[in-house]
Amino acid sequence: MPRLAKSDLVSIEDLATPEIEHIFELADSFALALARGETERIADGLIMATLFYEPSTRTRLSFESAMHRLGGAVISSPDMQASSAAKGESLADTARVVSAYADVIVLRHPYDGAAQVAAEYAPVPVINAGDGSREHPTQTLCDLYVLRRKKRHLKGLTVAICGDLKFGRTVHSLIYALARFGANIVAAPFGGMEVPEYVLDRVAAERNYRFSTVSLDELKSRDGGFDALYLTPNAPHQMALFTNETQLENMPVVRPPASLDAFYLTRLQRERLVATDTPPGDYTPFDARALRSSRAHDAVVMHPLPRTDELAYELDSDPRAVYFEQAAAGVPVRMALIAWLLENKPRLLKPAALLQPAISFKGATAPRCVNPSCITRHESSYLRPRFRFAPSANRASFSLRCDFCERNLRIDYVGNTSSRRYYHFDESLHGYVRQWMEDGTLAVFDTVKEAEERGYEPYRRGPQREIMNSDEIVRACETMASQIVADAADPTSLAIVGIVSRGALLAVRLRELIARHTGVRPPCAALDVYGEIALHSVDDADNLEVDGRMIVLIDDVINSGWTVQRAMTVLWQRGRPAGVKLAVLIDRGHRALPIRPNYIGKTIPTARTDRVQVRIAAPGGDGRKPADRVVLYSMLESHKPVENRL
Ligand code: CP
Repeated sequence: MPRLAKSDLVSIEDLATPEIEHIFELADSFALALARGETERIADGLIMATLFYEPSTRTRLSFESAMHRLGGAVISSPDMQASSAAKGESLADTARVVSAYADVIVLRHPYDGAAQVAAEYAPVPVINAGDGSREHPTQTLCDLYVLRRKKRHLKGLTVAICGDLKFGRTVHSLIYALARFGANIVAAPFGGMEVPEYVLDRVAAERNYRFSTVSLDELKSRDGGFDALYLTPNAPHQMALFTNETQLENMPVVRPPASLDAFYLTRLQRERLVATDTPPGDYTPFDARALRSSRAHDAVVMHPLPRTDELAYELDSDPRAVYFEQAAAGVPVRMALIAWLLENKPRLLKPAALLQPAISFKGATAPRCVNPSCITRHESSYLRPRFRFAPSANRASFSLRCDFCERNLRIDYVGNTSSRRYYHFDESLHGYVRQWMEDGTLAVFDTVKEAEERGYEPYRRGPQREIMNSDEIVRACETMASQIVADAADPTSLAIVGIVSRGALLAVRLRELIARHTGVRPPCAALDVYGEIALHSVDDADNLEVDGRMIVLIDDVINSGWTVQRAMTVLWQRGRPAGVKLAVLIDRGHRALPIRPNYIGKTIPTARTDRVQVRIAAPGGDGRKPADRVVLYSMLESHKPVENRL
């Protein structure tokens, strides 16, 4: 019986260029054999499992057809809602279990990085049939195969990619592959659905591409004209990389390409839009008018399908429309992929040269991926976020790249776990951060407050000044408690939630004061908005019920409003409170978000570089006089000479 080596296909970048070319040669021979009605039995005795957590017509059925055509068998879970995934089984467990039933797993999943997770847990090869908005490498094989057949080559072609370039996973894999083959890419997003920065960064950094803008006249008739992003291969050592800070309008405008070889259309990926996304703008249908200009005369029209309204049916009879050929190519190309797996030796997921070690974070200092659709945000019971250093041409910033979804996480504050100091990142820290990454002492923080909550001190601070003493804090708490009680129509509906750590200590004090005023002791919980976000009852009771409650949310200081906004999100995820009122000991008077506290201990206008630190003793203390106080100091930027003392 044939055997398949553990050789996964998660990204199109997992295939070397000669391997792609070999798969195309195999696909040519399978296409010929299919046309002649010849049968192949090279996969006799093998079983393929198709696990589809999202709907599919082409990918699943063409994979299954390819396996049958090669004499293999298929077991399928075309609707994972009818599998034990619906009972909460993890992707890792499913991948391990199904590996005992099949020789290869083909996986489609709604979350970015899911195929990588399955590949890491399954002992059999895993083929990514689309993971969230990240990649769809086998669709790209079909796309390139048809494009090469139509144009005879790929190098130097100019391909206009139009539609939802933000969430279109086929587009991301295609951009990586076209860049590999030296094609020019015109990225023409519809409705503002632009190519994500992490994709552009990757082709710039790894494929030496530069970006400029072009005005595409021939498309003007469609939607009033727009500037498209033009990605062209650069001469070695002449890379002009435009960083994330560079707006499209600031990029050099170049002459539009003389001719286009292909239009690649994609539908709006409605299923990926979440409530927080800006609604897409106009998504104008692509029709025969777009092909009328001389520039588009020889362009083929491609689409991974399914289409919705973005591609007019009138184009179906045009010989330049090749989208049904792309769909049909799914069978010989996927047969070729299975044949390639049969020939293959076990190997690393990515070429070793591309792998730098993942950064090891100690304990709670590991950051979370920013991408809400990253698999690490959904399978967190066993999956730890994993990051590598994200190379960037801009040395003044520092970013980490998620190992699963490839999104970059910009880091503003870094710390050292040995010295317990934190720093605002600047260029002078690059060398130190690389060193801390290597020796496992790097800590990263979203905000200064997070650094302080985790027990880190600023590297340098100016002289500190006490702005509230212990008695003033006691009086401020009493005033806030009386105001809360006066406002509460029904004290039994109150629930007190304090943001960890100082907000939670204040919450316990305010709860006791409220109980003294009303005779009712409201339930109280501590909300940790850092790391693994959690709401813990301080009474050791069951989880705090927020439904129908008037929540009093308590924090020590409002800096930007970020912490409070995150806390509000957590509360609303837990249920529907009757209302949320905000109490803070110190309002600094400036905040990035429109969050206004209802109850304020003291308003202290401060500069942005000032830090307000609240020191509150934990209940039960050690019997000594509590050192409760609020201090103000200014933060000093890190400097190389001082830094050297580390
Ligand atoms: N092109 C593509 O992936 O189609 P399906 O969603 O039908 O598999």
